[in-house]
Amino acid sequence: MTKRTGAPPRPPGRPKGAAPPGGRLAQRASGGLPGIVAELAEPAMPADERVWVPQAPDVWFRPLLLNTVSGGWCNLLRVRKSGVLSRHRHPMIVVGYVIKGRWRYLEHDWVAETGSFVYEPPGEIHTLTVPDDCPEMITFFNISGAMIYVDERGDPVGYEDVWTKIEMCRKHYASVGLGASYVDRYVR
Ligand SMILES: [Fe+2]
Repeated sequence: MTKRTGAPPRPPGRPKGAAPPGGRLAQRASGGLPGIVAELAEPAMPADERVWVPQAPDVWFRPLLLNTVSGGWCNLLRVRKSGVLSRHRHPMIVVGYVIKGRWRYLEHDWVAETGSFVYEPPGEIHTLTVPDDCPEMITFFNISGAMIYVDERGDPVGYEDVWTKIEMCRKHYASVGLGASYVDRYVR
């Protein structure tokens, strides 16, 4: 007789908590119909500093969901001191929630404070900075599509999408000892 514990069944032969062959990409939800990918639930603020991926001087991102189906990602953005998120635009909407500190766009006169919700319309061009008296800001962003970096005339000079973000994570996690495949847990 099998003891009922209330825990969902696991595939046989895989220790609890271990990633399946092929990484988390191959993992499927323990409930629901076949083909449904696994859910995600973990503290957004990582206990391990290595989970933060350097993006620019005094700028880091912490991946939460890397969405390869519709193209986009959720992350925490951390900016300290003189960090600047370079001038850019998005082809789709972006929403954010400020968890800590405050920041502003050079192109606007409003300031996103702790607890603020932010909506960025498609096509809007902006450059993110933190005030001199703010040592650190952390904001949750849900970014659809891409970030298109632009020059002072608004002409494209570079981009980031979910694939470049995954690659940045792979390189960083390999370099800090977490292993390149560490990022797979956030890829859907
Ligand atoms: Fe933006």
